[in-house]
Amino acid sequence: MSEKRHQVEKLATGIPGFDHISDGGLPKNRTTLVSGSAGSAKTVFGSQFLVEGIKRGEGGVFVTFEEEADDIRSNLLSLGWDIDRLERENKWAFVDASPCSTTWTSSPAIMISARFLPAYSTRCAR
Ligand SMILES: Nc1ncnc2c1ncn2[C@@H]1O[C@H](COP(=O)(O)OP(=O)(O)O)[C@@H](O)[C@H]1O
Ligand SMILES: [Mg+2]
Repeated sequence: MSEKRHQVEKLATGIPGFDHISDGGLPKNRTTLVSGSAGSAKTVFGSQFLVEGIKRGEGGVFVTFEEEADDIRSNLLSLGWDIDRLERENKWAFVDASPCSTTWTSSPAIMISARFLPAYSTRCAR
C-alpha cells in the first residue's frame, strides 16, 4: 500500500505553531474535541480557528454553551478580532446556547443555525 493511502487529510487552522506541531492542522471533516482546564485557551484557539478560516474565505459558526455571545464579542475585540463586523458581513454566526440565554429554544440564532450550519459553514467551534 502506498504511504499516501495512510495520510489523513488536514485542514490548516491558520495558527502557525499548531499547524507545525500537528503536521498540517486538524484532520479534515472530523470532529475534534479540544479539552483543558479553565484558562488553557480553548476559546481563544476556537476563535482564532474561525477567524483564520474567514480570512481564507470560509464561514465560521461559534456555538456557545457557557459564556454569553456578548461577553465573547467584547473579549475577542480586546484581542483585535472584530466579531461584530464579521457577523454583519455574514462571515461569523453565534449560536447562543448559554445557560443565561433565557429564550434559547426560540432564539433566531438557533433557527438560523439550522439553515446556516450545513449550507454555509465549513468551520464550527463550540
Ligand atoms: N482579551 C484578553 N486579553 C488578554 N488575555 C486574555 C484575553 N482573553 C483571554 N485571555 C487569556 O488567555 C487565556 C486563555 O483564555 P480562554 O481561551 O478564554 O480560556 P478557556 O476557554 O480555555 O477557559 C487565559 O489565560 C485568559 O486569561
Ligand atoms: Mg472558554
